Amino acid sequence: MLIQPAKHIRGMIELPGDKSISHRAAILSAMANGETSIRNFATSADCASTLMCLKALGVEIMRDGTDVMIKGVGKTGFFKSETNLDCGNSGTTMRLLSGVLAGQDFDSVLIGDESLQKRPMKRVIEPMQRMGAQIEALENHAPLTIHGKNPLVSAEHELKVASAQIKSCILLAGLNADGETSLIEKTPTRDHTERMLRWLGAELREDHDESGNKLTISGTATLTAKDMNVPADISSAAFFLVAAACLPGSEIVLSNVGLNPSRTAVIDVLMRFGADIVISDQKQICNEPVASLTVKGGIRRTNSSNLLHGPVIANLIDEIPIIAVFATQLENGMEIRDAAELRVKESDRISAVVENLRRMDADIEEFPDGLRVGRSELKGAVIQSFGDHRIAMAFAVAGLFASGETEIVGADCAAVSFPAFFETLASLRGETGA
Ligand code: S3P
Repeated sequence: MLIQPAKHIRGMIELPGDKSISHRAAILSAMANGETSIRNFATSADCASTLMCLKALGVEIMRDGTDVMIKGVGKTGFFKSETNLDCGNSGTTMRLLSGVLAGQDFDSVLIGDESLQKRPMKRVIEPMQRMGAQIEALENHAPLTIHGKNPLVSAEHELKVASAQIKSCILLAGLNADGETSLIEKTPTRDHTERMLRWLGAELREDHDESGNKLTISGTATLTAKDMNVPADISSAAFFLVAAACLPGSEIVLSNVGLNPSRTAVIDVLMRFGADIVISDQKQICNEPVASLTVKGGIRRTNSSNLLHGPVIANLIDEIPIIAVFATQLENGMEIRDAAELRVKESDRISAVVENLRRMDADIEEFPDGLRVGRSELKGAVIQSFGDHRIAMAFAVAGLFASGETEIVGADCAAVSFPAFFETLASLRGETGA
């Protein structure tokens, strides 16, 4: 994909449905009793992987574009799949389904692409084994063979890694345990699973103390189908927020964006560092807050410290690549630390960002747990996506304010979260091609 510099971007759009919420909508409505209709289901390839796996497990699913209808089978009504369950590139599919399949009375094999096979799975294998499932893996990596058990043994878990995927895996397994399953989360992570469990009528206890946030679910909880509407994906919005902020004269309005407080750190950070973002038209849809975002081009000078670190990183982990691109346009740049988890995402995102920003002639330094970006005049370059959707999209945005042409090699992977990304970008530039 070739990207030419842009003067500005302008327009009003509604971005596709949130990927995290769509995965959960599909999985939880499959575990519910009754039929659920889901509107604005994500167009992402990852969420299509989740639907394919659920179908292979005997769930009846009808899809018409972004409308999806799911006939729930209840918590234990799945059938053993005749084939391996292919999670593609999707860590969320593999980790959340591990929790569901651990509690079924049959065996399942979860497989994934080359990137997914490199990602750490011990974080879900260990808690599922503690609850009585037997799991075989290749040194804690996919393929995962799950010998399910029903009921599972209820247990209390402490999350060693701040991860909504591990939290969700445990909560889903807890629905099929013989008592109360609890987990203590020291650093809060996205809470879509908790909100959706409640939306579907399951009781979830929440206690806060000095050790963190403790969530408890009972194996007697049941889910009752209830229609859902998925807000637009804030992580996809982040690319356009940065593009508009960094191009003076821009003005875009993104409607219906999911503004769950566990996901909005990216907006706080962009505003703290001088982006002009206005939030309006706030409302609640299916237990999730949504609003419109208006962004005007130009970055104000601020006195903000240029250090981004600590627990907040867990709440903007997917947006760090685009924040690093944004940082090249800031007076004092930015230093990002405590972000070692980025090394085990769809690619090693620290080294991918560093390598690509270096190719664009940016002032950049790599740390084991992050990076430092200085203010830079970016130059168009040949960029590697490393097969990682967020790297491809972040550097397409960088190409808008670089001098000369930028080529993104392997740009197709944007489809993992946002198949129409390049068309949407082109439409905001007032062109038909990127
Ligand atoms: C996700 C949680 C995050 C995020 C991923 C989606 C989810 O991963 O990076 O893209 O839907 O639960 P971790 O919770 O493992 O950090």
